[in-house]
Amino acid sequence: MQRTKVKDLLQGAEVGKEVLLKGWVRTKRGNKYVNFIAVNDGSTINNLQVVAEAEKFPEEALKDVTTGAAIAVTGELVASQGKGQAYEIQATSIEVLGKADPEAYPLQKKAHSLEFLREIAHLRFRTNTFGAVFRVRNAMAFAVHKFFNEKGFVYMHTPIITASDAEGAGEMFQVTTLDLNNPPRTEDGNINFEEDFFGRATNLTVSGQMEGEVAAMAFSDIYTFGPTFRAENSNTTRHLAEFWMIEPEMAFYDLKMNADLAEEFIKYVIRYALENNREDIEFLAQRQAEEDKSKPQNERQEMTLIEKLEMVVNNDFERITYTEAIDILLNSNHYKKKKFQYDVSWGIDLQSEHERYLVEKHFKKPVIVTDYPKDIKAFYMRLNDDGKTVAAMDILAPGIGEIVGGSQREERMDVLVERMKSVGINPDDMWWFLDTRRFGGCPHAGFGLGFERVVQFVTGMGNIRDVIPFPRTPQNAEF
Ligand code: 4AD
Ligand code: MG
Repeated sequence: MQRTKVKDLLQGAEVGKEVLLKGWVRTKRGNKYVNFIAVNDGSTINNLQVVAEAEKFPEEALKDVTTGAAIAVTGELVASQGKGQAYEIQATSIEVLGKADPEAYPLQKKAHSLEFLREIAHLRFRTNTFGAVFRVRNAMAFAVHKFFNEKGFVYMHTPIITASDAEGAGEMFQVTTLDLNNPPRTEDGNINFEEDFFGRATNLTVSGQMEGEVAAMAFSDIYTFGPTFRAENSNTTRHLAEFWMIEPEMAFYDLKMNADLAEEFIKYVIRYALENNREDIEFLAQRQAEEDKSKPQNERQEMTLIEKLEMVVNNDFERITYTEAIDILLNSNHYKKKKFQYDVSWGIDLQSEHERYLVEKHFKKPVIVTDYPKDIKAFYMRLNDDGKTVAAMDILAPGIGEIVGGSQREERMDVLVERMKSVGINPDDMWWFLDTRRFGGCPHAGFGLGFERVVQFVTGMGNIRDVIPFPRTPQNAEF
């Protein structure tokens, strides 16, 4: 007999028929006449209720049917008399496939804290919250591919191990095959990376952009979607050492077209989740509303999660330049009352408190900030005519801060080489990158969207560690 998933059973497709259900016990409750077993198989937030009459299933027969156990149930799918579910299974057989000792199983009926669940990331998938989060994440990942493929973009796999530091920020994890306890040395005592597998020092990629730019010079429109790594101090609720980034790169695009694409893309992915994972998002919205009740008034959300998502997909993002952003901050009462921890002046790197002020207090919606000072941005961004700013864009989202970083790229060989030198990059090391300017170079642009940050936005989860299955953060790489 073929197994049917809970999601399909709950839609009543096989009502009146004999069905086979397989999944994990969430709860068992009952009395001396009947037991009700709630079973979940991960296909939906909802459990399927199994009715086990005591006549057929005495206490003894159900002793191993405890929270966490894997079971197989056969029985008739019938309309439910109880409230809370439309259908239930009238069990004719129940087999325990894998026991879960109630004394040892860490997940019990009560709600567990997210901190506790992070310690048992291998089991947290079995909770309602993480089930919902990772189904939403899955839908959003699918939507990413759907969006770009519908537009004719080519999905490009870029290398994980590379010698380039795409962001020039030096936040890289070194990769080596050398025995670092006893490394080969050069005559002047340095570690001799020439004896490494690659014959040189390499690292885990911080971004697939450089390779993406190269590919865009042949396919016109490409995107990457893969893991990226940053050895920055990631002890915040917005940073991971390993995160997934989506990086589209488009030939013949300028900054405005880049911003238009990014806005359309973000809305598409959110709308897809809202339409396809409604129950999960409703559950997460409820969860956030509950959590809010324990917070002081001024920290509570002004909108429910669903209202916030609908606001984002149905309204234009605000677009301002960096210079305008600085003016807004300087003219704010917040600034006049000295409420910012970091001072504001033209040239500063916007701190998260500044970004949050702009999106949460001033505009109350996502904001695209463009044309940042060149000194705080990467070397590859196109220099504007003022000679001071670059054609950069960051997209800031309420409650999260930066979700996208991108730019029009510097396609002019001489300007690019000059900028490389001024930030200490040897142009010879990036000969292949410069070749794209040398041979058929053209105006082009792209951006990087931090996938977990958008999943955070859609699920309302406060900590980025709770939206990636196995978070890599300082002191956390066990699994
Ligand atoms: O702004 P970033 O550093 O830009 C780049 O890497 C460019 N190469 C992108 C491009 O133009 N192709 O990173 C892009 C996005 C950020 O806006 C943020 O959402 C996310 O990646 N991000 C992180 N997410 C989680 N943890 C971290 N440590 C992150 N660092 C960046
Ligand atoms: Mg950035």
